Amino acid sequence: MKAEFARDLQKKIIDDLKKIYSPKFLHHWQHPKNWGIMNDADGYAKITGPCGDTMEISIKIKGKKIETCTFDTDGCGSSIACGSILTEMVKNMKIAEAQTLIQEDLIKYCKGLPDEDKHCALLAVNTFKKALENYITSTRKK
Ligand code: FES
Repeated sequence: MKAEFARDLQKKIIDDLKKIYSPKFLHHWQHPKNWGIMNDADGYAKITGPCGDTMEISIKIKGKKIETCTFDTDGCGSSIACGSILTEMVKNMKIAEAQTLIQEDLIKYCKGLPDEDKHCALLAVNTFKKALENYITSTRKK
């Protein structure tokens, strides 16, 4: 009886989320990709947003492209999905293009987000761009 109640409740929650988020966004929420911090990253950044959640991004560069990007967050489900989707979005992206990324690009790639979740996309993009800046600054010093 308890298991049936839990299953029904979980189904109701997922059905409600499907009314708000795209299938792609929900997939990343439930099965995040590229989660973790790289020990040998070429660029790294950590930002705590105004909501109190923290995002960390590590990047690996090959040539003039983002070879790999990983994320970690202690934030909400939306920040997990945004971090995960961002890591896929920037894979193989040229550095010059990555430098021009804005919050709206990620929101579009997520197939839209409700207003209350847009700051989660901003946190992911800002952290990524700071990691990129960390890479660029460190290569200038060499
Ligand atoms: Fe803080 Fe989503 S509520 S990042």
